[in-house]
This record gives sequence, C-alpha cells and structure tokens, in this order.
Amino acid sequence: KRPKILVTQRIPADAYSLLHSIGEVEANMDEGIIWSPEELLRRAPGHDYLLCLLTDTIDARVLETCASASPRLKLVANMAVGYNNIDVKAATRQQITVSNTPGVLSDTTADLAFALLLATARRVPEAERFLRAGKFTGWGPLLFCGAEVHGSTLGIIGAGRIGRLMAKRAGGFDMHVCYYNTRRLPADIEASYRLTYVELEELLRQSDFVSLHVPYAPTTHHLIGERELALMKSSAILINTARGPVVDEKALVHALQSGRIAGAGLDVFEHEPAVEPELLSMENVVLVPHIASASFKTRTRMAMMAAENIVAHAQGQRPPNQVNG
Ligand code: GLV
Ligand code: GLV
Repeated sequence: KRPKILVTQRIPADAYSLLHSIGEVEANMDEGIIWSPEELLRRAPGHDYLLCLLTDTIDARVLETCASASPRLKLVANMAVGYNNIDVKAATRQQITVSNTPGVLSDTTADLAFALLLATARRVPEAERFLRAGKFTGWGPLLFCGAEVHGSTLGIIGAGRIGRLMAKRAGGFDMHVCYYNTRRLPADIEASYRLTYVELEELLRQSDFVSLHVPYAPTTHHLIGERELALMKSSAILINTARGPVVDEKALVHALQSGRIAGAGLDVFEHEPAVEPELLSMENVVLVPHIASASFKTRTRMAMMAAENIVAHAQGQRPPNQVNG
C-alpha cells in the first residue's frame, strides 16, 4: 500500500515529484500560509510521513495523536538543520523517527552570516535608506564611517559545520578568528580553519564581531544575556543566524540602547516572527527575516534531502539523516 505523506508548507517543486513517485501526497500549496497547531492536529493524523518546516510546532500532543491514528506516523522529516520545533523525546517514545537536513545549507548560511557582518559593520542598509530618502548631497569625509572588517577579530561561538565555514570566509578578509565550543576541536581542524580556541568570556572580551552558530537547546537558551553583552567591547557587533532564543533579546535591546555594544545583525528572533519593537527603529541593527539558507539551490537541496529521508524509510532503510534512535 502506498504511504500517505503530508507536506505542511509550499516547498520547491522537485521534492513533490520524488514524493509522488512513492506515495500519496497531500500538501499545503498556499505560499506563506503556516498551519496553526490546531490545524496541524486536525490534518496530520492518518499520515505515514510528515514533511515539515521549522515554523511547525510538532509537540507531544501532535506526535501522540499521530502515533495512535491509522496509519500511524512513522517519520517526521524536518526541512531544516535545526529541529528544536520538534519534541524529539516524545517522538522517540512514540517510536517516530525524526530527520533533519544537515550539511547542504552550511555554506549558504555562512554566506548570510558574513553578509550580515559586512552590512552591519559598513552600515550598508542605513546608508542605502539615506540615499533612497534623497539625503545624499555629496561625498563626505565622515559620511557613514563604520567599523573595519579586515584585520579585526571574529569570535565564533559554536564551531560546527556552519561556524567553521564562517571562519573560512573570515580568513579571506584577513580576520583573526577565535572560537568557543563545548568541546575543543582536534588540532588538525583548528589548523585547517585557522581557529584559536578561547574560553567564552575571553572570546566576548577580545572580539570585534561575535557570531553565533550553536543549535538551540536548553543549554544554549539565553547563552548571550546581560552578563555576556557586558563583557563585549563597546565597539563590538553581534551576529545571530542560529536561533533567536540563544540571545536574550530584551537584554540585547538594552545593550544597544545604552551603547554597551555597537550593533547587531540578526536573522533570527527570540519570539519569531515577532521582533522586539525597539530594534525596528535602531539604525545600528540589520534585520532580516530568517533567510540564512534561502538560496534557490539550497532550498531545493533541503527539500530533496527531507524527501529522500522519507523515501529511504518507505523502502525499509534507515533514513540517512535520522536524529533520534
Ligand atoms: C534554519 O534555520 C534551519 O535550521 O535549517
Ligand atoms: C550545520 O550543518 C551545523 O551543524 O553547523
């Protein structure tokens, strides 16, 4: 019997073709429409496979309901590297497999993290707003002077795939790169990415730019709060392309307002899609709507990878990107 597959949001087309080849696909084709938890609870039960996004909250209630439906849910394939939107423990209890899409988005995410670093340092969006508003009346020796990028120090918190690729980009700009990670990397990896290990406090004190590349978990909740922001240089810029709640967003607002740090480039927000209202009126922050992996190529690869995990399970194999069990 062909498995029943539910796709919760509009995704790149190639992935549907692959899924159609192995099962009956039901999909939300309304671009930009995210199903509420209630909607999800109504629609998901009775499917063998769920292909979902980080905006879908797959909690214990959804998983338990799907596990007791017929057919029972077998796999939740998240089209994201992060899977904090899924209660993985509850899934494991219900013998539901969870998979993610690691690796394929790492370079694209590092590209955007570096774009935010450059844009914030050199005040690109602010200068562009100025120009578009018709305020450019001539070249000025002090017009939009920003922070120097080359030769400065970048502190990377979380030296997984994305963090390391951020370090690689920084090398091209002659930056000095230090990192903090819960486990120190092997010497050969440190050498090949020109990474210097430092403790977290030391990293915060030394860095001109601090970029976050940790997964979100209880241990990384508010990893950057008032105390950490106070350790940073007053000229420092914080970049977050990881997950919003890694930063205490209210503490960040205070640090920016009081000049404790100089700026921030943010792709993710603590209460996404809500953004602390004060941030919206600050010129020294660059804000983008969670687009770090958003290139056509990468989003297609992510969708295919999520679909391939479903195909593997349907063919009796272990999904290549299984995160539990
Ligand atoms: C995006 O935020 C992802 O986790 O893939
Ligand atoms: C992402 O692929 C990471 O593990 O950093």
